Amino acid sequence: MLGVCGGIAAYKAVEVLRLLSDAGAYVVPVLTRAATRFVGAATFSALAPEPAATELFGGAEPIPHTRLGRLADLVVVAPATARLLGEYAAGISGDLLGATLLATRAPVLVCPAMHAEMWEHPAVQENVATLERRGVHVLPPESGVLAGGDVGVGRLADPEAIVSAATDLLGRAGAGTGVARSTGARDLAGVRVLVTAGGTREPIDAVRYVANRSSGRQGHAIAEVAADRGASVLLVTAAPLEAPDGVECVRVDTAAELADAVLSRSAEAHVVVMAAAVADFRPKDPVPGKIAKRDGVPEVVLEPTLDVLAELGRRRVPGQVIVGFAAETRDPLGRGRAKLVEKGADLVVVNDLTVPGAGFGHETNAVTILFAAGGTREVPLAPKRTIAAAVLDAASSVLRAPGVAGRPDDRNEGAVR
Ligand code: CTP
Repeated sequence: MLGVCGGIAAYKAVEVLRLLSDAGAYVVPVLTRAATRFVGAATFSALAPEPAATELFGGAEPIPHTRLGRLADLVVVAPATARLLGEYAAGISGDLLGATLLATRAPVLVCPAMHAEMWEHPAVQENVATLERRGVHVLPPESGVLAGGDVGVGRLADPEAIVSAATDLLGRAGAGTGVARSTGARDLAGVRVLVTAGGTREPIDAVRYVANRSSGRQGHAIAEVAADRGASVLLVTAAPLEAPDGVECVRVDTAAELADAVLSRSAEAHVVVMAAAVADFRPKDPVPGKIAKRDGVPEVVLEPTLDVLAELGRRRVPGQVIVGFAAETRDPLGRGRAKLVEKGADLVVVNDLTVPGAGFGHETNAVTILFAAGGTREVPLAPKRTIAAAVLDAASSVLRAPGVAGRPDDRNEGAVR
């Protein structure tokens, strides 16, 4: 989270946002009302994966500060004004940024910027000392030309220095949403994970196809997090996204290609995650050339594709954990439970597409993970890497629980699921 206060240095926060994003961080900007008098919220929104947040009240979310506070791996406030430092030190939650600072347990980096006289005032210095004593990280202002042409200490630290301090803190915290990739535990070392991602495209003719809205980001995030945690990962993807480092990647287009790629390699996987949006139907007789308008309106007859997840359920090898996804708009948990049974999966990750910010085309997601053995785990709206980590945690708990869900040997013996 990037907090921005109202000072002339607010324009430099745009550069901080850009540099953090370039480094791979998922940055949510939170602006005070005064900040928006210096730089418009639209500027931050345009560069960030979600709109800049400015208000505690009146938005779509009833309690934005707790969501933002919980989501954050790190909070950076740049520039931090004397007011912000004073309120934060006193525990006053005067606005959305102030409330979020009190609601978060993430490390906080404040980067003060103000006139030299203000910075040197004993009240400000005492507030900074109080915050430091409580574990808040402070990147002090630099000396230089200040607003109005004055010279002294008070200029916001250089954006590069702010980003470097932020990266350092993320690395130390072992956070996993972006800048500091690969800092967490390697608890999946030795585990072979097969992940599918993206929406398949089923040709109508040489140029047209039937597709869906899946971006592939959730599947790619699962592959990336699994590799970070030491798993050996095979990603079968229909998405035009870059493959994460250290992941074996097979590119596919159609449901049939995806089925071939998955089923030829699934026996060797300990965990199979079917995050792909595989077409349920495809044109029965795709035309090899291009259908021209003068040929008249074509009649496209569809036929069902193979349900890969159900086929995996039928072919499962002992000990394998099979994870399906269910993107739903009506009765998500009921439909998810039905899919667990119908497809013989150990886990179904239910996406309620009616939740704002969740599902197709978003950087964030909100899911409920259903266990075949019973039980659910809710993961509130979070970046797709966080959702990925929760899915892998659930799969790993099933994988490491002998005699519990999803093992055909257990099932044959009539084990209770
Ligand atoms: N899936 C699959 N092969 C297909 C279609 C879907 O493997 N041909 C997998 C998806 O990867 C996902 C899960 O099945 O993990 C759920 O897909 P979904 O389309 O929601 O389920 P359906 O059985 O098609 O049910 P619905 O009637 O809701 O479309």
